[in-house]
Amino acid sequence: MIKYTVFPDYFSLSKAAAERIIRQIKHNPLTLLGLATGSTPIGLYARLIDQHRRGKLSLSRVTTFNLDEYVGIPKDHPQSYHVFMQKHLFDHVDIPPARRHFPDTDKSGTQYDLQIMRSGGLDVQILGIGANGHIGFNEPGAAFDSKTRVVELAESTIRDNARFFDHSDEVPRQAITMGIATILQARHIILMANGANKAAAVAAAFQERPSVNVPASCLQTHHSVHVLLDTAAAGDLS
Ligand code: F6R
Repeated sequence: MIKYTVFPDYFSLSKAAAERIIRQIKHNPLTLLGLATGSTPIGLYARLIDQHRRGKLSLSRVTTFNLDEYVGIPKDHPQSYHVFMQKHLFDHVDIPPARRHFPDTDKSGTQYDLQIMRSGGLDVQILGIGANGHIGFNEPGAAFDSKTRVVELAESTIRDNARFFDHSDEVPRQAITMGIATILQARHIILMANGANKAAAVAAAFQERPSVNVPASCLQTHHSVHVLLDTAAAGDLS
């Protein structure tokens, strides 16, 4: 089942997403969270940090599994997703380092999926969406039964990411990502999108028949998805 909520702006969207996560953690302090990087969840993470600083939220028993990481840049590269998570969440809250997980080319993707399963499975997976409809780094064409694996990034994703790197030849061409099947195993999924550049992808994902050409459309087959949009990202929905 898919529930949609449209918010007037990014701030209220982020606040609502954070409240959903906070409720989950209060209900079950041992929550397993699937985390995304990128610009979309920054406001949500800022709100979690704020609530933690005010003494209203502890994440000390939460376990996290990130969706993806680049291949070919070191973990301490300023654009790595490890560094992103430190900067936007981990450095400011009390999730113990041993409870934070990333897919890693040192291990097989299968090991990552098994680790998630053995930990009890993801309670909530947080997702953004690429302008080409990707989720994680599952680019158009990714099989709906795909598991965690190394993938080639789409040319459009490489172009989208180039703004974060000094030179275009520095932009990673590969990533390791949770697969679509891995994501769909989460009990609940929250997909957030803001900005007009996401409107077409959102409409293709949720208003057309599921297709591997639009990876996020796989979410139509999941039993518990909440899509949180700002008015711009909802602009192409009828
Ligand atoms: C990030 C991720 C990506 C992003 C997507 C949107 O971990 O998996 O799928 O969610 O590329 O990125 P932003 O939020 O920067 O627009």
